[in-house]
Amino acid sequence: MPGIELFGPEEKKEVQDVLDTSIFFRYNHDAQRNNHWKARDFESEVKKLTGAKYAHAVSSGSTAVACALAAAGIGAGDEVIVPPFTYIASVEAVLFCGGLPVFAEIDESLCLSPEGIRKAITPKTKAIMLVHMCGQMARMDEIMNIVREHNLTLIEDAGQAFAASYKGTYTGLFGKTGCYSFDFFKIATAAEGGVMVTNDEQCYKNADSYSDHGHDHIGNNRGMENHPIIGFNYRISELHAAVGAAQTRKVPQIREINRKYKKRMMEQLGQVPGVSFAHIPDPAGDSATFLNLLLPDTATAKKTVDLFNQNGIGGFNYWFINMYHFINQWDHLKNLKTAAPLPIHLLGAPQDYNNLQLPKSQEVVGRLISFGIRCSWKEEELEQLIGKIKASLEKALGVHAHA
Ligand SMILES: Cc1ncc(COP(=O)(O)O)c(C=O)c1O
Repeated sequence: MPGIELFGPEEKKEVQDVLDTSIFFRYNHDAQRNNHWKARDFESEVKKLTGAKYAHAVSSGSTAVACALAAAGIGAGDEVIVPPFTYIASVEAVLFCGGLPVFAEIDESLCLSPEGIRKAITPKTKAIMLVHMCGQMARMDEIMNIVREHNLTLIEDAGQAFAASYKGTYTGLFGKTGCYSFDFFKIATAAEGGVMVTNDEQCYKNADSYSDHGHDHIGNNRGMENHPIIGFNYRISELHAAVGAAQTRKVPQIREINRKYKKRMMEQLGQVPGVSFAHIPDPAGDSATFLNLLLPDTATAKKTVDLFNQNGIGGFNYWFINMYHFINQWDHLKNLKTAAPLPIHLLGAPQDYNNLQLPKSQEVVGRLISFGIRCSWKEEELEQLIGKIKASLEKALGVHAHA
């Protein structure tokens, strides 16, 4: 979780500004706030880094996904293609907007594959919820061709890929709307927070109103504002936005260190016969928050995980058995267990979620072990870690690394 590793005086100063005025609300109170507008600053920083025309900060990455869907006009009864490997929030957001998730295959890019998307398209497909996983990015050229060919709405959940880009365009900005998470674990944190981005003015206006009970935010008398649409409260507080702004300024520095460390890990661990890495469609645009190892098969990956645990190696995720990130563990979702009925209960699920056939996703996630890259590693610490990982990999694979 690199963002929090560099938490320091810059974040404290931004928070102190807010504490000094006690204006925790992002709107209005112009006279009392001593010209501090932290949510706006946070949004400006995100725009500066990504090149987005519009950015709208909200309370979490999850509510940013909800805004991205609503702002792009995705709702009741719309079929939305989703990946089986993601943080579950991407799928929950589709269900809660009234949409019908259709699961499609991922590939070695760890994201929905063009082939998987094509197979999942039906006459009812309205949108693709493309999730850029593990700090990397999807195969955008081919996916954009499908989007255009089938006139689909692309929504990008770049919750894990803030600061990643593909051929110069930042993740989140290929589709109609996109979003980032700034929770505690991300490359930049707001403690809790999220940002929706778009280049479409109407989508931005929709998100701005949707996330605050429909307010149009025109004028400085909140009680007299108009409400072009019905919304809800997904607002970010000024305290959280203050942290997010300071952290976002540090992202280029964090990303540079991440990339250096990831390169070194790939060079050294790639010498072990049988070890490969997730496909990065544009290596120059990797945010490098994760080193994504691919073992030859699931059995070897499980053996490797056991050896890592035995040898005291931490800081990795084996997503295949992780409760939040892979469909195999989502029994509550597959059985549509909810506190109250949703549109999908009335309309019917578009797939038999308990009997999905996603062999490629099973194979890829079964083989995948991801190490979180820490920008606070000391050089010797990293060398030691690489040595230990290498030894475990060699044992699991029964091989010796090429020098
Ligand atoms: C891909 C993805 N989408 C959405 C989210 C949700 O973000 P948050 O935890 O800020 O609600 C996450 C969080 O891990 C994520 O990884």
